[in-house]
Amino acid sequence: MQVDKNTEMPQNAQQVREVLASRLHMQSEKQLRRTLTAQTSVQDRNYNFSSNDYLGLSQHPEVIAAFQKGISDWGTGAGASPLVTGYTTAHQTLAEELAEWFGVERVLLFNSGFSANQGVLQVLCKLGLTPIIDKLCHASIYDGVNYPSSQRLARFQHNNYADLAAKQSKLPANTCPLIVSEGVFSMDGDSADVSALVAAKNTGMLMLDDAHGIGVTGARGRGVFDHPQAPEIDIVTGTFGKAFGVAGAFVATDHQIADSLVQSARHLIYSTAFAPAQADAIRAALNTIKRDQSLQSALTERIQLFKRNAAALKLRLGASDTAIQPLLVGSNTLALRLSQALADSGFQCIAIRPPTVPKGTARIRFTLSLNQSLSAINQLFATIADILDNDQELTDACRIR
Ligand SMILES: Cc1ncc(COP(=O)(O)O)c(C=O)c1O
Repeated sequence: MQVDKNTEMPQNAQQVREVLASRLHMQSEKQLRRTLTAQTSVQDRNYNFSSNDYLGLSQHPEVIAAFQKGISDWGTGAGASPLVTGYTTAHQTLAEELAEWFGVERVLLFNSGFSANQGVLQVLCKLGLTPIIDKLCHASIYDGVNYPSSQRLARFQHNNYADLAAKQSKLPANTCPLIVSEGVFSMDGDSADVSALVAAKNTGMLMLDDAHGIGVTGARGRGVFDHPQAPEIDIVTGTFGKAFGVAGAFVATDHQIADSLVQSARHLIYSTAFAPAQADAIRAALNTIKRDQSLQSALTERIQLFKRNAAALKLRLGASDTAIQPLLVGSNTLALRLSQALADSGFQCIAIRPPTVPKGTARIRFTLSLNQSLSAINQLFATIADILDNDQELTDACRIR
């Protein structure tokens, strides 16, 4: 039976199978098929240039010990959602310590950055705010604002505040705008201009996702909270799965918004809380970040070494000063070829392709981490130089002419 190609609405199981098969085929043809690859516990983190464990805290003895002790104290699971009996003093202490460190009234804990963004945005959109999001915002923000189905939604060009103003001016007069952007953008590694966003919010509201900034950027490693205008940001979300080396997420805001989220954020209300032992591990990571500012300087040293090496090879990097360093290749096939050639030499450098990034901008998204030695970074570039020397097509794609 023929499936309607325009709507692709299968009407029985056989048609569902046909649609799935044709989509998978198309994804393979276009070099866009995604695969799950399992890591082994002995895989060498020194050569992993695709992990977001920026400070190496997933391997930190104090974080590991806190997790282990937490399991002895609490067991392995929270056993219920936060509003039932899943919220423990381990969670509460973590939330209070974070609120104090960030300088905000309240912190709520979520199971992931994805659910935090989705949960918060669903509540605010239901309230009638009109989101205006940076086009390069994360998938969880897109899902939270119900893109593309939402009637009330605007998108502005990435980090382009003139375009933001233009989009704002076209909103109906009777609507409260909610500007949404990111502290550090996940696929480009560049940062939003917090002052420009605060100025733009005017009588509206501002939400920033700082998944990739918390713990690593800013004078004290507090990401956007180290910005002097941080108190004017209404809501900040972030994850513990990256610089903190664990998993889980937070929403930092004021009492009124936090209390409202406790009433209505479905991802908070209807989902088992993360394990109390996990909260203890996150606290240990937090204390390490607060205490040891040398973590950030060691990461900066790696970022600078990476950028010097890339400049020497005239590689086309994105405009990033953070631990996320994209090498813009362009074609999916070539990005995969470079990733595979690096893998053959023992380096994990994953190719990122559309729809995660815009069409024609496939890239290797390198990430720097304290799990890597300085010498591993130099070895990476010696390998890249070798690969390019033997592949003119890749050289043309990766080098600035
Ligand atoms: C900008 C951004 N926000 C949110 C998330 C989701 O965070 P989590 O991994 O905790 O779900 C990610 C993760 O990739 C991210 O890059």
